[in-house]
Amino acid sequence: MSNQAQSAQFEDEFMDGDAGFDAEAAERARPIPRISIQAFCDDQRSAEVLQYAAEDRRLSKAHVSVHMGGIAAAIAHYVDSPTPNLIIVDTALSGPALLPELDRLAQSCDPGTKVIIIGRYNDVLLYRELLKRGVSEYLVAPIDPMGLMESISNLYNNPDTDPVGHVFAFIGAKGGVGSSTVCHNVAWTLSEVLKSNVTIADLDLAFGTTGLDFNQDPVQGIAEALAAPERLDDQLLDRLLTKCSEHLSIFAAPVVLDRDYDISPESCDMVIDVVRQNVPYVAVDLPHGWSPWTKRVLLQADEVIITAVPDLANLRNAKNIVDLLRTARKNDAKPHLVLNMANVPKRQEITLKEFEQALDVKAIATIDYDCESFSQAANNGQMVEEMNPKAKAAERFREIALAMTHRRDVKADKPAASGLAALAPFLEKLKLKR
Ligand SMILES: Nc1ncnc2c1ncn2[C@@H]1O[C@H](COP(=O)(O)OP(=O)(O)OP(=O)(O)O)[C@@H](O)[C@H]1O
Ligand SMILES: [Mg+2]
Repeated sequence: MSNQAQSAQFEDEFMDGDAGFDAEAAERARPIPRISIQAFCDDQRSAEVLQYAAEDRRLSKAHVSVHMGGIAAAIAHYVDSPTPNLIIVDTALSGPALLPELDRLAQSCDPGTKVIIIGRYNDVLLYRELLKRGVSEYLVAPIDPMGLMESISNLYNNPDTDPVGHVFAFIGAKGGVGSSTVCHNVAWTLSEVLKSNVTIADLDLAFGTTGLDFNQDPVQGIAEALAAPERLDDQLLDRLLTKCSEHLSIFAAPVVLDRDYDISPESCDMVIDVVRQNVPYVAVDLPHGWSPWTKRVLLQADEVIITAVPDLANLRNAKNIVDLLRTARKNDAKPHLVLNMANVPKRQEITLKEFEQALDVKAIATIDYDCESFSQAANNGQMVEEMNPKAKAAERFREIALAMTHRRDVKADKPAASGLAALAPFLEKLKLKR
C-alpha cells in the first residue's frame, strides 16, 4: 500500500475524523527523545502502524526502523550488531514458544536496551513472565498508533525525574492582531491563577514586546541561546532567563537591529527542548511571518493558538495555517482559535459563526476591542488583569489558559470566589470581634 493510502486508512480507522479524536490519549503521548528504535514484526499491519507512528511529530526526533521477520529476525540481527535504545518485537508466538526465544534475544541485548513486545494473547501469566524477564511493556495486537506512542512515551518520560513541559505556540493570522498580547496575558494567567511555572520564549528577535509588556530590560536572552544552542544547559538557561514573578520567566528577544538573525529550525528545536525540560509550560511568542523555523515550531508544539481579527485576510491566513497543521499533525487536536479585537462599532466584521465554519474550528475565546484596557496595560508594562481585574478580557484570558491546559475548573472558581466575596463582610466582623 502506498504511504498516502496507508495514512488515509489509519486516519479513518483510528482517528475517525475529529469526532473520534482522543484528546486525552494525544495528551498522554508526550514527545519522545532522540533515541533509536528498531522494530521486528510478524504482522504486516503492526509494521504499518509502527511506520505510521514513526511519522508523527512525537517521534520526529527518534530514529525508527521497521523490519519484518518477528523475533527470529531480531535475534539474527543482533548477533553481530549493537542493540538500539528500544527494540519492539511483534510476535505471533504463544508464551511457551516465545519465552525461550526472548531469552536468546536477551543474550545479545546491551544493558540500556528496553524491549516492548506486541503479542496476540491477552494473558496475565505471560505478561508477568515477560516483566520478570525485563520486558518493559507487553501490548496486545491489534495496536493503534496513539496507544503505541503512549507506551513508548511512558518509558522515556518519567514525570519524577525528567519532566517534559508543554509547548504552546502563539501565532497571529496577520501582523499586529494581538498574538503577543494574547500569549503574554495567557502565560501570566497560567502563572498567577493556576500557579504553574511558565516561561515565555520571545522569538520575535527584532521587534519582540515581551520585555516591554512585563516592564523588564534584560541584557541577555534568547538570541544568545539560539546563537550557540549546543552550549545551552540548565545553568546557562538560568542566567539567560529574566524572572518576572514567582512563577513566570521570560526568555526575552534582544530587539536591536544591528545584527542579522539567522535562526535555523534545528537551533530553535534545541533551545525549546532545553526550556521545556525546566518548566511545565513554555509559551512561544512567534512573529507573524513564514520561515522554515516558524513552521517547525508550529508543527512540533503541543498546542497552537492562532489569533485572528475578524476580517477577510485574517480568515484566509488562519485557514491556511489550520489546513497545514491538520495535514501535518494528523494525531493532534486542531489548533485553537482566538478571535481578537472583535465587535468594533461601525466596522464590518466577519461573524464568529462564519469564521468557525470556514475554519472548521471552534474559537476558544472572542476578545472584544478594548482600547482603554489594552493601551493602558501596554503602556504600563502590565497585564490586562493586573491593570483592570474587571476587564472582560481578563476573563477571556483565563478561559484560554484553561482550555489550553485542558482544565475545566476555572469557571467553577468563580462562584467560589463570589461566595467568598459574599462572606467577606462576615469575616470582617469576626476579625473585629477578635
Ligand atoms: N483586544 C484588543 N483591544 C485593543 N487593543 C488590543 C487588543 N489586543 C491587542 N491590542 C493591542 O494591539 C497592539 C498589537 O498587539 P501585539 O503586539 O500583541 O500584536 P502581534 O500580533 O503580536 O503583532 P506582531 O505582528 O508585531 O507580532 C498592541 O498595542 C496591543 O495592546
Ligand atoms: Mg507579536
